[in-house]
Amino acid sequence: MEADSIRIQWYPGHMTKTRRRMEADLRLVDAVCEIIDARIPISSRNPEIDAICGAKPRMVILNRIDMADPARTKQWASWFQARGMAVIQTDCKTRRGISDFGPALRRLLAEKVRRNAERGMAGRPLKAMVVGIPNVGKSTFINQVSGRKGAKAENRPGVTRGMQWITVDQGLLLLDTPGILWPKFEDPEVGARLAFTGAVKDDILDVYGLSAHLIEVLWRSYPDAIRARYKIEAETEETGAQLLEKLGKSRGYLLSGGVVDIERAARVLLDEYRACRIGRFTLELPPEEPV
Ligand code: G4P
Repeated sequence: MEADSIRIQWYPGHMTKTRRRMEADLRLVDAVCEIIDARIPISSRNPEIDAICGAKPRMVILNRIDMADPARTKQWASWFQARGMAVIQTDCKTRRGISDFGPALRRLLAEKVRRNAERGMAGRPLKAMVVGIPNVGKSTFINQVSGRKGAKAENRPGVTRGMQWITVDQGLLLLDTPGILWPKFEDPEVGARLAFTGAVKDDILDVYGLSAHLIEVLWRSYPDAIRARYKIEAETEETGAQLLEKLGKSRGYLLSGGVVDIERAARVLLDEYRACRIGRFTLELPPEEPV
């Protein structure tokens, strides 16, 4: 998989503008709420987010928990918490975890609330902004926490716009437009994981190559789920091509002459993975690094 496939949306000029825009927006808020995809908590993050945010209080929203491995989501939540960030876990489709947002943000900003009160500004609303890479669920999240309908975030970094605030509840405001960040697209493995999860459109991808890579990754991390769904047996180090071939055979996807329809097997694997029919998987584990 070539990382080029997602370079289409972002190039350095945009990145510089985006970063400047975000740094300007940051001055207006008390906290940054970064949405990440719980299935790929490393690849769905912006590589410069820590530098961009500086000392601003931070929240991580682990989104799409309905699609991720619950045990690993728990590990990730602890990992971010250990690094001083507030964490909530959400499924924006069903609203699970959405009501945790306000209380978690207030806990994160407790010190600020106390200082405001001391200065006679107890009624001053807290302000936050939502940031994340394209497609991670920013607009859906903002709509859910605020009860707002419509308004999809646009991929127009650097476009001047008036500042508007939307009310989450009394005393809590969100910048109306999320900050759109770029992923670490120079890393081909990151590009592949974004493509697995559908963050990159398939029409610009080599579906067979992607699917072969995916089944290899799943086979290494979740072999029992692959065995159970596709009734295949294989050696631990079998290649993606071999695994797809076995999948096709097991499902009876045959072309004339008894040749396995490998393209069909590839498509099925990818579609079933994305629809969580094989299981709920998290493809990245928290790094073992000291806090
Ligand atoms: P963005 O602003 O960050 O670009 O992302 P957006 O909110 O548009 O969300 C991208 C897609 O992800 C949407 O699906 C949205 O419904 C879906 N999504 C967001 N959060 C979650 C979640 O927690 N769980 C699941 N399963 N999906 C989530 P879509 O296919 O573009 O539209 P639709 O299926 O909602 O019609």
